[in-house]
Amino acid sequence: MRLPLWNRFKKEIMSKLKNKVAVITGGNSGIGFGIAEAFKNEGAKGVIVGRNQNTLESAAAQLGENFIAINADVTNVADLERVFRETSEKFGKIDVVVANAGAGAVGTVATFDEAAFDQAIDLNLKSVYFTVQKALPHMNDGGSVILIGSNAAHRAYANFTLYGAAKAAVIYLAKGFSSDLLDRKIRANVITPGTTDTPAFDKFVPAEQMEAVKKHFADQMPIGRIGQPADIGKTAIFLASDDSSFMLGAELLVDGGMTYLAK
Ligand SMILES: NC(=O)c1ccc[n+]([C@@H]2O[C@H](COP(=O)([O-])OP(=O)(O)OC[C@H]3O[C@@H](n4cnc5c(N)ncnc54)[C@H](OP(=O)(O)O)[C@@H]3O)[C@@H](O)[C@H]2O)c1
Repeated sequence: MRLPLWNRFKKEIMSKLKNKVAVITGGNSGIGFGIAEAFKNEGAKGVIVGRNQNTLESAAAQLGENFIAINADVTNVADLERVFRETSEKFGKIDVVVANAGAGAVGTVATFDEAAFDQAIDLNLKSVYFTVQKALPHMNDGGSVILIGSNAAHRAYANFTLYGAAKAAVIYLAKGFSSDLLDRKIRANVITPGTTDTPAFDKFVPAEQMEAVKKHFADQMPIGRIGQPADIGKTAIFLASDDSSFMLGAELLVDGGMTYLAK
């Protein structure tokens, strides 16, 4: 007969991220929260970052005592410096940085003006670059950087031109960062989600149409369902852990086949 104590011990010694310190931007919602939960379940501790104090507090409460929330705007470089300084003061040097915060920006080349351009690029590209730059002085050598791309980087969806371009650049950054950081053995890789069930839908879809819209997206997916944040969380554990120690600058599509499989 298996003893519960043995099971607890086994889970503890087999945890892939035991005592690793992680920072997850956008960890208070959707994919970021899915990653934070997955990390917590593998023994990590650390920080989630966002601007909405209510969701920050409820997410941190769900993650438990090993995680704290820091309210910060990732498009503000001084905020990023504060995030990493406070993280290392509380937890010590950082092992894993997930640059996940981002949002779809809707418009075409005919409609997107200069202010909208700057806003979309600030959030989806510039913030990723400076999240990593400001993390570096506080990171352990041998750490892992995980970026979040989008399948919109590979296929031109109506109205997602600039968002797709920013995410294509993010996919490149995983290669560039890995090359830049070879001497510190910090690896950068990128996860490219397909359509994933997150609160991001709330910003674009009226509540009464939500079910029909999600069914429509699921019907488009070769695998027959849209993604869940936990699908991305599992992949992030792999990239954060030593299991992926031979991977630098790689892109992992976690998209139910929607990018490359015809349907
Ligand atoms: N859902 C999808 O289908 C899908 C597909 C491909 C890629 N992605 C990418 O996955 C990532 C997460 O998206 P999601 O679907 O999980 O969206 P979400 O549920 O809306 O979460 C977005 C997160 O980003 C944070 N955030 C946004 N702007 C920020 C800022 N200026 N400063 C700090 N935090 C900020 C938000 O926190 P606050 O609101 O508190 O600031 C929130 O936690 C994004 O990069 C997105 O482009 C999503």
